[in-house]
Amino acid sequence: MKIRMDYNNMLPHMLGKQGITQEQIAALAPKINSANKAMAEKRSAGKMAWRDLPYNQAEVVQEINAYVNEMKNDIEAFVVLGIGGSALGPMAVQQALNHPYYNELPREKRGGFPKLYVVDNVDPERLVYLFQTIDPTRCLFNVISKSGSTSETMSQFMIIKQLLEDKIGKDAARKLIVCTTDAVSGNLITIAKTEGYKYFIIPSAVGGRFSELTPVGLLSAAFCGIDIAGLLEGAAQMDEMCKPEDIRQNAAHMYALLHYIGMTTGKNISVMMPYADSLKFISDWYAQLWAESLGKQYDVHGNVVNVGQTPVKALGATDQHSQVQLYAEGPFDKIVVFIGVNEYRETITIPKIYGDMPSLGFLGGVTHNELIQTEQNATEYALTKAGRLNMTITLPKVTAQTIGQLLYFFEVATAYAGELLDIDAFDQPGVEEGKNATYAMFGRPGYEAKKAELNAAPAKESMYVI
Ligand code: PA5
Repeated sequence: MKIRMDYNNMLPHMLGKQGITQEQIAALAPKINSANKAMAEKRSAGKMAWRDLPYNQAEVVQEINAYVNEMKNDIEAFVVLGIGGSALGPMAVQQALNHPYYNELPREKRGGFPKLYVVDNVDPERLVYLFQTIDPTRCLFNVISKSGSTSETMSQFMIIKQLLEDKIGKDAARKLIVCTTDAVSGNLITIAKTEGYKYFIIPSAVGGRFSELTPVGLLSAAFCGIDIAGLLEGAAQMDEMCKPEDIRQNAAHMYALLHYIGMTTGKNISVMMPYADSLKFISDWYAQLWAESLGKQYDVHGNVVNVGQTPVKALGATDQHSQVQLYAEGPFDKIVVFIGVNEYRETITIPKIYGDMPSLGFLGGVTHNELIQTEQNATEYALTKAGRLNMTITLPKVTAQTIGQLLYFFEVATAYAGELLDIDAFDQPGVEEGKNATYAMFGRPGYEAKKAELNAAPAKESMYVI
């Protein structure tokens, strides 16, 4: 089973003058060659360690599965504490592969696995309401932080550690916390080692948003009974599909190239619109990957370039009734990526009633499967007719393998787009300023200069607050 990408609707034979021409693609041959070279060189120099993940984690998978078997019957819920790359992947995979009402199912219908919650914010209401829903002493908390120092995640950890220790004592509390972090850097690994928490390692050369296929994502997935070996197998299949140098044979590279050409011609928005509820959070995960990796001020030579493409999340058919009007008639500034599914996991048929009412009768006997797929095709048609760049990725079925393929596909596409843009897709300097300002506002030692800078900033004027 293999995911497919159809980019007909990006080209002039479907789209007319808005389409990307073969000449535009051919003119980029030198750029494509150097991007291919850079991808290969960086991979063999170990600078794309996330590309090895499908192959080098057999032991990790065994350890995770053994730990799940040891713990799963003792807990009611598995709770992820993480943010950004340490939370979006777990959410996307869980939503794709679990029952949509997973937590509401009785335990036996969850295959005996615990419920899953992901707490990826420090909104004070979030944890308080969670503890009104579940008994924390019946949970296993997975603190995930690559850096081991992210304030949001570490503050959640501090609250929960104290709460558990107060309720059940240090020894019992220790069993209910598991850390996922870097082997050396940051506070979390030190804490885990000195306080005796179980821990899993995120390989140091794998960055946050590329880490879903490490214990960051694999542990929570395994605690819900998801086939984590299948996820990795799918990623390995996609790795094979991403090998051809010829861009016409390499869907992930072509995805990046078409988006790159789009970016250079004012298509500043990348819309992802899956036609499956199960894939809704894949758009959230992709939004971070695409935004944080490609939105950069400088290229690798230090020139100011201010590049990137704003990801927008949509869901078919729901957002046909909210956003498609804009996509069809608004500015020509978007590339819409539909994600379709050939075979949904369930089928439901509309009864043959109201045959005397033509506007309802035509639906009788049609399945929701046919309805959603037809609406997807119809929206593709409408956008193409309106001259809007769009393409479609189709999963034969949503399975652990195809989700592994899909995640890996977007990771490769993002890295390749980074090469085409000549930027570093693996850093995120733009988020540092806000973090540092937070530290300074709290008076964290070492941030005195930042505090002085904040104090010297112009004050807001009350006349502009209404
Ligand atoms: O992609 C990234 O590197 C970031 O989005 C991080 O995942 C996010 O900031 C969380 O970082 P950490 O895992 O270090 O707590």
